[in-house]
Amino acid sequence: MTARQSPSLKGAVRAPGDKSMSHRSMILGAMATGVTEVDGLLEGDDVLATARAAEAFGATVERLGEGRWRITGRGGFAAPSEVIDCGNAGTGVRLLMGAAAGYPISVTFDGDDSLRKRPMKRVTGPLADMGARLAWQGAEDRLPVTIHGGTLTAIDYVQTVASAQIKSAILLAGLNAEGVTSVTEPEKSRDHTERMLRAFGAEVGVEEQGEGWRVTLQGGQPLTGTVVSVPGDPSSAAFPLAAGLVVPGSEVTVEGVMLNPLRTGLFETWREMGADLTITNRRIAGGEEVGDVTARHSALKGVVVPESRAASMIDEYPILAATAAFAEGVTVMRGVGEMRVKESDRIALMVAGLRACGVAVEEEPEGFLVTGGSVKGGGTVHTAHDHRIAMSHLVLGLAADEPVTVDEPGMIATSFPGFEQLMRGLGADIAAAE
Ligand code: S3P
Repeated sequence: MTARQSPSLKGAVRAPGDKSMSHRSMILGAMATGVTEVDGLLEGDDVLATARAAEAFGATVERLGEGRWRITGRGGFAAPSEVIDCGNAGTGVRLLMGAAAGYPISVTFDGDDSLRKRPMKRVTGPLADMGARLAWQGAEDRLPVTIHGGTLTAIDYVQTVASAQIKSAILLAGLNAEGVTSVTEPEKSRDHTERMLRAFGAEVGVEEQGEGWRVTLQGGQPLTGTVVSVPGDPSSAAFPLAAGLVVPGSEVTVEGVMLNPLRTGLFETWREMGADLTITNRRIAGGEEVGDVTARHSALKGVVVPESRAASMIDEYPILAATAAFAEGVTVMRGVGEMRVKESDRIALMVAGLRACGVAVEEEPEGFLVTGGSVKGGGTVHTAHDHRIAMSHLVLGLAADEPVTVDEPGMIATSFPGFEQLMRGLGADIAAAE
């Protein structure tokens, strides 16, 4: 797919539903007793894999209309008759492993080539400490893995990095463990699991601890089906908004964006860079604050992103780097080693992609620095099947001097189905490469 320098982008769009909340609504819906009605669900490939998993674990999953789904849970997971294939979804597999570990069943989890390269012991380690048994089918720490669950004992787990996936997996296992499970994080990671567990009727305790917190959960609490309204995903809204910031003369609004403060680090950083970003129509929807975010073309300047902000924008560094390429001066992004174990090694791929487009980038083991200005473009970017690497470079191409091509746009559908059409609707020149 190729993106070309575009005239000013104008318009208002809706971002697809939040990926984190969509996965959780399927998983908790399947663990709960009774009916869960979801609207605004992200119908991306990642979440659809989790929906299939929910069915394989015995829930009834029905699509009622666009983004409207009904999950009828049986109050627990039954043994699936097949391997649970989570596709490309790290969140899906890690949360499902935690949930499944609490039931007396044996389950084999697998994923696509990218997911098979990602570390799993960060989740299976604590699950084993709780009493789950694991059998790696190939290399240790990598999918496929079989989990033999049941009879778990609560643990007090102290995380070295803030990770909502690890925290959530332990809490979901803790729901069916004997005793009180606790997870302590050095910094606060997104709290959608905690919020949604409460909506399903469970009590979750939180104590502030320095920059982070300790989350506690008593085992044996039942979940009851509920209504979940999924707001727009700030991590997806970031792409059309970034295009609005870098394409001269633009004004782009994304409506209904979730504004949970543990997800909005990018917006804060853009403001520090001088971005003209306004939020209107703030309201509460689905237990989260949402608003309409407008980005107007802005003269950006480089900033040092505080390392303590990493957890609140970990998926947004690729698109931040693309906008930093147009900012005057250097943008310093450090303390983001976790980027190397996402859908791809996102530090290496952003460094290579930006360099292929004539941008000066310095790579460090746990970070990277982008020196901005005007962007030459003209590169063909290797995405390693990573949706966010693809979308970030397509946005770059909209304001670069020469077209930017990404080698594999298909994976964009994991988180942002309809991305190309939505961007074209704003006036972006994006099309299949010739
Ligand atoms: C997610 C947590 C983050 C994030 C991922 C979604 C979640 O991962 O990168 O896209 O929904 O819990 P980590 O918890 O591994 O940082």
